Amino acid sequence: MATRDDPVFDVVDLIRAKRDGQSLADGEIDWLIDAYARGALPDEQLAALLMAVYFQGLSPEELATWTGAMIASGGRMDLAGLTRPTVDKHSTGGVGDKVSLVLAPLVAACGAAVPQLSGRGLGHTGGTLDKLEAIPGWRSELSADEIRGQLETVGCVICAAGGDLAPADRKLYVLRDVTGTVESIPLIAASIMSKKIAEGTAALVLDVKVGSGAFMTGMDRATKLARTMVDLGHDHGLAVTALVTAMEAPLGRAVGNALEVAESIEVLSGEGPADLVEVTLALAREMLDLAGLGDADPAAALADGSALARFRAMVEAQGGDPDAPLARSTLTEEIVADRAGFLARLDARAVGVASWRLGAGRARKEDPVSASAGVICRAKPGEAVTAGQPVLELHGDSAERIGRAREALAGAFAIAGSPPDPAPLVRARLT
Ligand code: URA
Repeated sequence: MATRDDPVFDVVDLIRAKRDGQSLADGEIDWLIDAYARGALPDEQLAALLMAVYFQGLSPEELATWTGAMIASGGRMDLAGLTRPTVDKHSTGGVGDKVSLVLAPLVAACGAAVPQLSGRGLGHTGGTLDKLEAIPGWRSELSADEIRGQLETVGCVICAAGGDLAPADRKLYVLRDVTGTVESIPLIAASIMSKKIAEGTAALVLDVKVGSGAFMTGMDRATKLARTMVDLGHDHGLAVTALVTAMEAPLGRAVGNALEVAESIEVLSGEGPADLVEVTLALAREMLDLAGLGDADPAAALADGSALARFRAMVEAQGGDPDAPLARSTLTEEIVADRAGFLARLDARAVGVASWRLGAGRARKEDPVSASAGVICRAKPGEAVTAGQPVLELHGDSAERIGRAREALAGAFAIAGSPPDPAPLVRARLT
């Protein structure tokens, strides 16, 4: 009698078919993903298949099936029955991108429920959970019942995605990472969307970052990724839109965990850097439209304190103390302008790498992160600077780390005699 682990298809035939540009059938994809997730297929065969997908791509039909199979590898959160409409946001990641910390309570203050199941940072972009963990006592691990309860009472939750959400993605991501196949657009889209669909949200706004500090450095690939994810969401019955937003310079002025929490609280208090406020409000309006709450006014919720009150309630519900002082580094050092003029360029990637070297990010997923380390951008592109004025302020706990961060920042900014042409923050909108 055949058992579940008996091969149903000849894997080598499937690898050859994809290698030669043929489409795989639904049953073949379902079987491949399920068998790999169960440990019934060896890494080398999936590695070969991933490389074939990298070069040949997946048709929209194959991608929808591939994503469905990844979702089916685990459980799906059931958020039906909440009294508020659910809507979430996913960012492809950028430097100083603390938008989630503001957006979740802001959109909740406007009447939606925001289930934001997040990950930790890897490399030069920070993770939302790492940022919130800078708040003393705050807890990222919640049960499904706690998530549902908090969505009903507070309206927003930011917590760790449990191990049961699209577990096939975790295995595939590790394999992609060691086989040079992370950069495939269909594989990125399936990875992101499988987790968001399994999370149970009815609507989703994607913030696809473009520029030196982003995963996608050029507009062509950023737009293609956004299009692929929006279409994939629609194929799975999700209401989805995407904004492609600028990531040439860090968003806001603060980069690093506690520094970004402090800046988020400024925005929630009706202040904060203009670029961060603009991107946050653009995403909030997209989310509220999708949730059927297009009449709500997110700018008013920042100005009147209602978004801040939601943030405080969210932090407290997860064991955090919103009034506790945030960690501060023992050392700070400034990098100053060597002449007067206008800041023409500030490279997001270099600032992200510097913040990482200061201790704010991790190289491996088991590494600890520093709550206090990071960089404050005292000047942003377009602003006038005088000779000797601080442009960047480094926060760290060792001279060695500060030295390595300085090296990462060599050539990271340029000063010109006239201000750069203003560039829009929102580069494209896809529905
Ligand atoms: N983020 C994900 O979750 N998956 C990818 O493949 C890339 C970014």
